[in-house]
Amino acid sequence: MIEKQVFRNISYGMYLVTTKGDKNGGCIINTLSQVTSENPLVTISLNKNNYTSELVKLNKRFAVSIISEETDNNIITTFGYQTGKTINKFENIAYNEISDLPVVTDKMSAYLICEVVNIVDAETHYIFISRVVEAKMLNDLTPMTYKYYHDVRKGTSPKNAPTFVEEEKIDGYRCPICGYVYDNSKESIKFEELPEDWVCPICMAPKNKFVKLN
Ligand SMILES: Cc1cc2nc3c(=O)[nH]c(=O)nc-3n(C[C@H](O)[C@H](O)[C@H](O)COP(=O)(O)O)c2cc1C
Repeated sequence: MIEKQVFRNISYGMYLVTTKGDKNGGCIINTLSQVTSENPLVTISLNKNNYTSELVKLNKRFAVSIISEETDNNIITTFGYQTGKTINKFENIAYNEISDLPVVTDKMSAYLICEVVNIVDAETHYIFISRVVEAKMLNDLTPMTYKYYHDVRKGTSPKNAPTFVEEEKIDGYRCPICGYVYDNSKESIKFEELPEDWVCPICMAPKNKFVKLN
């Protein structure tokens, strides 16, 4: 038996992977791991359906911005809940061109520039084994952990994230814009009793847009 909740007990960080294309692409991931330290290698795991994985497969280069506890929610909503297949995610986001890649640096704690050395087919995902060719600290902001994202920012994981947990058993409501779930069993006030001008704490969508789960 596989209890999906167990995967929430694995510790991760929060990262923004970005890369170049006719239309630049990028997505939020929690699945970055350092594999070796000398001449460092890292792995990232990207869903095959993501626009970003198409671009990374093509370019074999990408940047990783390490998200901090100060990073704006807007970055997570734009890059983690929408696809570059239908929108230009960089339209309203400030970024720098670094080593010929679009890199978001505002309120990020550090960034890496990586070159893909091997691609492993992992069923729904590709694992990109990649060489770090540049690594730069930007400030001393605390890097955001996946747990902080869930506990403090009250975020959820969209279906493409490997850690996605089924929500059909939750007594609550989901924001159709960013995927945030208001779980009645975890809050002191039931969703139904929140004032009508209450808005989504992640993306500010109005209460009346929320959809009841199950
Ligand atoms: C907290 C969080 C963690 C995520 N982790 C991953 C991940 O590790 N791998 C992945 O492929 N998608 C992950 N996602 C989902 C992608 O960011 C999301 O599907 C995105 O919209 C893909 O955009 P794209 O199609 O423009 O590449 C995560 C999203 C969030 C919010």
